[in-house]
Amino acid sequence: MEKLFQPAKLGSTQLSSRVVMAPLTRSRANHESDAPTEMNARYYAQRASAGLIISEASQISPQGKGYPWTPGIYSEEQVAGWKLVTDAIHEQGGKIFIQLWHVGRISHPSLQKGGILPVAPSALKPAGLAFTESGMVEFETPRALDTSEIPGIVEDYRKAAENAMRAGFDGVEIHGANGYLLDQFMRDGSNKRTDDYGGSIENRSRLLLEVVDAICAEIGADKVGVRLSPASSVNDMKDSDPMALFSHVIEALSKRRIAYLHMVEGVTRGPREVEGIDIEKLRSRFEGAYIANNCYDRDLAISAVESGRADFVAFGRPFISNPDLVERLKRNAALAVPDQSTFYGGGEAGYTDYPALED
Ligand SMILES: Cc1cc2nc3c(=O)[nH]c(=O)nc-3n(C[C@H](O)[C@H](O)[C@H](O)COP(=O)(O)O)c2cc1C
Repeated sequence: MEKLFQPAKLGSTQLSSRVVMAPLTRSRANHESDAPTEMNARYYAQRASAGLIISEASQISPQGKGYPWTPGIYSEEQVAGWKLVTDAIHEQGGKIFIQLWHVGRISHPSLQKGGILPVAPSALKPAGLAFTESGMVEFETPRALDTSEIPGIVEDYRKAAENAMRAGFDGVEIHGANGYLLDQFMRDGSNKRTDDYGGSIENRSRLLLEVVDAICAEIGADKVGVRLSPASSVNDMKDSDPMALFSHVIEALSKRRIAYLHMVEGVTRGPREVEGIDIEKLRSRFEGAYIANNCYDRDLAISAVESGRADFVAFGRPFISNPDLVERLKRNAALAVPDQSTFYGGGEAGYTDYPALED
């Protein structure tokens, strides 16, 4: 059997294979409480044969929310909702980490408590449109965070990790990718601060590393992963020297002996090759386990793991439409194509109604 399908340990978590379900926002939490529901538990349970599930991104605070109906991990109701999910996974021998999320400026006043402005490293409006309950609308210029507010954000992350452990998760993944708050701080296109969190690469990486340290102290580094997307321009990310920036960040993560580095290789859901960014060179700066993602198919995943280029491979869209993806990959069976119109929001259709092979 190919190495991709063999059991492996990730930090302190034993996995049944090296096939990981990538984090996938589906916008189907309870509309009032942002708590996961029985339907969400059914969806994840159908996918429990993944070596590891990384949950959809989950806001650490009301301020961290940027899309309708995404789950949170800051209230007791949300912890109870997630417990439904983790219990359903564990009953089948699966493993699940939660992805912790603060969207920063990729939000809209209509998604914020009291209709206030979203926050960001600097008051710079991102290009693109916000996804709100009433459709796509212009972003608004966010409010720059005051230095005095930053410890509160680190504390929200720490508390979210504590809540995640109470909700039964096997670990947490810190979302440092795709143009959300931690990525916004790292890149000089979105961070124009003049305090200890802006300017030099060390300063711009400070918030991510403070969050990592707070969460490692809370739950142990062997249960913590970090996701980065150095080559991705999604959500209007720009940086004058991404190789220098991410070399520094990845070396700092390596020193912290976290469970894994999860990298979106290329533009998220887009081209895997981006001029000026050498993912292999960045990856070589990390000594621990490496999860590769972005547009992998069976052959690419098998060869990445066989050659040692990756330790684990995360699949996103294939897991939406193939709940039994591991079995299908093992048998080299045909994969169902996901219906993009049901990615975000709605009910069981396009969510829990994709059949497994046996069905
Ligand atoms: C519907 C959808 C929702 C996504 N939500 C998240 C998310 O919550 N967090 C995240 O880090 N990436 C998210 N992504 C990106 C995926 O994790 C993954 O990086 C991307 O789909 C590329 O992998 P793939 O080619 O295997 O699908 C999402 C992608 C899709 C299609």
